[in-house]
Amino acid sequence: MTFYYGADYYPEHWPHERWNTDAKMMQAAGFNVVRMAEFAWVKLEPKPGEFDFAWLDEAIDLLAAHGIKTVLGTPTASPPAWLMMADETQFLVREDGVRSTYGARREYCPTHEAYRAASDRIVAAMAEHYADHPHVIAFQTDNEFGDNCFCDLCRAAFQRWLQDKYGSLDALNEAWGTIFWSHTYQKWEEIPAMRNTAIAHNPGLQLDWKRFMSDTYVDFQQRQIDILRAKAPGKLITHNLMGFGYDKINYFDLTAPLDFTAWDNYLRVFWSDKSEVDVSHMALGHDTMRSTKQAPFWVMEQQSGPTGWSTIAEAPRPGELRAWAYQGIAHGADGMVFFRWRSCRFGTEEYWHGVLDHHGEATRRYHEVVQMGQELAQFGGLVAGSMPVAETAMLLSYDARFGFQSQPNNPQFHYNQHFYDLYRGLWQRNVAVDIVSEQEQHLSQYKLVIVPALYVLSEQTAHTLAEYVRAGGALLVTARSGVKGLANEVVDTRLPGLLREVCGVRVEEYDSMKPDQHNRVIFDVDAIKGKEAELRVWAEWLEPEGAQSIAHYSEDYLAGQSAITINEFGAGKAVYAGVWGDSELFDTLYEWLLPQIGVEGIAAPQGVEVVQRKQGGQTFSFVINHSQEARHFIIGEEMQELISGKAIKGEIILPPLEVLVLQHN
Ligand code: GLA
Ligand code: ZN
Repeated sequence: MTFYYGADYYPEHWPHERWNTDAKMMQAAGFNVVRMAEFAWVKLEPKPGEFDFAWLDEAIDLLAAHGIKTVLGTPTASPPAWLMMADETQFLVREDGVRSTYGARREYCPTHEAYRAASDRIVAAMAEHYADHPHVIAFQTDNEFGDNCFCDLCRAAFQRWLQDKYGSLDALNEAWGTIFWSHTYQKWEEIPAMRNTAIAHNPGLQLDWKRFMSDTYVDFQQRQIDILRAKAPGKLITHNLMGFGYDKINYFDLTAPLDFTAWDNYLRVFWSDKSEVDVSHMALGHDTMRSTKQAPFWVMEQQSGPTGWSTIAEAPRPGELRAWAYQGIAHGADGMVFFRWRSCRFGTEEYWHGVLDHHGEATRRYHEVVQMGQELAQFGGLVAGSMPVAETAMLLSYDARFGFQSQPNNPQFHYNQHFYDLYRGLWQRNVAVDIVSEQEQHLSQYKLVIVPALYVLSEQTAHTLAEYVRAGGALLVTARSGVKGLANEVVDTRLPGLLREVCGVRVEEYDSMKPDQHNRVIFDVDAIKGKEAELRVWAEWLEPEGAQSIAHYSEDYLAGQSAITINEFGAGKAVYAGVWGDSELFDTLYEWLLPQIGVEGIAAPQGVEVVQRKQGGQTFSFVINHSQEARHFIIGEEMQELISGKAIKGEIILPPLEVLVLQHN
């Protein structure tokens, strides 16, 4: 298979005379792909219905002559002024009711029919023009779908969406509990958008609004996909997503109709106040993106220099660009595309640096990218198509995510952070993890399924999880699971609601803590007996109903009560953690839990990440020293190291930010 390596290229930003130099320098870097055109609408369609592809054809052909294929973005993320100013109702309206103005990007209303028609037209023109182009391999829809629009058109669309979903107003009123504060709706037209109101909206409305907005983008994208598939059937289709952290669109839904998932990965960013890079966050991003389609993915934008708009973040250290890019490949990327080729001299992103600086000459970062290109030319094709194989899954629920956005329960609680706190201990042990949705049909392939705060829970999902445990699986459920039904209404049973039986426990009481409060959890079992962890944010007093307590609180009125339990259910077991601890707490829990269910990581020194990709009988181990110090790593049996091309064995000294790619025999 082909491994794709390249950059995001904007020939329209540079003098024509420069293009040839760019193509040559890219070829020398081992590039075989670029992404282009995702912001070039005004150049492709300077006036309504008047198209100009000549410049892009020339760029594609020039690059092709240097062995470089093209991914083309549909340019709908940044519409031309002529389109938007012709009808200002195309601008999205923010939550506060203020309509956006022209001047940035992603300012459009995804529902607007005129906007959709303009999108259809440019997408169709591109698809027709490039349908048979041998060097255009794929299309990317739009770029980073996102943002909510609260305009009247979206409101009307929301009312239609609700009508489809509930059928009758009676059903909707019942589900949302609109009798509260006399909200009972008598006409569909009375239902508001989730715009700012005096205080907060009904939780049922909020969850449905978020689902609706997500569906709206999925639907808008589908229109582009339908056109692309009809007019350019041979081309692959992808979208550029925003990793694990972006939480306004259901990424399982958005990626379902795509041929492959792609995302953008930035580590040293100007909005962070920390200089330390936490690559475990990036690992979660890669794992999430791979898991959307359970297939190799691309990084369509990989950091290539200091990030920045008005201020500039610290420069990536020597070796970091390469180590970070290898991390993506280790987690299953079959395409690695740097953003961007050359730092732009104008526009909002003047200081978002590319592989090349503004001056365009080869410097340190370019040489690093060249080195990696030469390495990948040797073995990229060999690893492409292989996949990390995980025995552990984490359930990512958009209903829970959306539910917590409106009601975090505790102001210090963040679903994403909690999810990450549970992920981190696995990552540290080099345990491979898949990220699955509630719709995952094949849980039985996993030894462990982790269910972080499944706040909104359907009967179907509760059933799936119980059956998984009954058949022998191990489940870890955390606090505030099973609290809500699908209409975002609180259940009328003891918590964890529909998971009470499988977990063999009930929540006797819960306590939400102020930032200056804490408690402690003491573990009571086997090897972790006596270990303690500090606890903030949330504590549940658990009453086992068949389960065994494995940890208790030591402070405040909860002292002595159970905090974490384990239950034998069918052939499996279910752990219920009535706490939202940080990584350390879960780390201790894993220390005890993982060995007994046969989940094994890969031992490696501190700061060294090891990830395996497999295919057929073939295994590749990526060993990445993310630390700034040399690390010793032991290779038990002789293996081929693909970067150096040499067979290696025994104790290896891995310099800082160095990488090994081992092919197992
Ligand atoms: C995103 C976008 C790019 C660019 C970069 C840098 O990932 O997709 O177009 O804006 O960020 O800001
Ligand atoms: Zn709108």
